[in-house]
Amino acid sequence: MERTFAIVKPDAVKSGKAGQILARIEAAGFTIRGMRLQHLSLKEAEGFYAVHAARPFFGELTQFMSSGPCVLLCLEAPDAIKKWRDTMGATDPAKADAGTLRRDFGMSIGNNATHGSDAPETAAFELGYFFRGMEL
Ligand code: CMP
Repeated sequence: MERTFAIVKPDAVKSGKAGQILARIEAAGFTIRGMRLQHLSLKEAEGFYAVHAARPFFGELTQFMSSGPCVLLCLEAPDAIKKWRDTMGATDPAKADAGTLRRDFGMSIGNNATHGSDAPETAAFELGYFFRGMEL
């Protein structure tokens, strides 16, 4: 078993798609181990995405991620990190395969509905950033 960190981003929550995305998560075979609705502050979004601080889109990304509530998740499954990235599809919804969450719910590379950890080290950092051990 493996755990990964996922976000239903503010665009998807705002447009009323969180329930559909959670249903797709369960249908794909993930167990939800942790879940919380949270409106991130700009500082919290900047800390979470610190690895992207030098990127030109950092300001846009952190403004967007603090623009409204999102759903923070700990997902568990065999090979959960890869499985969740496959379930989401490519970062740019226009390039995501049919049947993936970003293809079905994403609007643009920034407003792309979901986030997922990209490696075991990232998952450990991201889960620890938002969840206390006791909550999981
Ligand atoms: P995410 O998986 O949350 O990780 C970093 C995010 O940066 C990514 O999803 C995209 O939503 C966002 N991103 C990547 N490239 C761009 C870009 N060129 N413009 C705006 N946002 C971007």
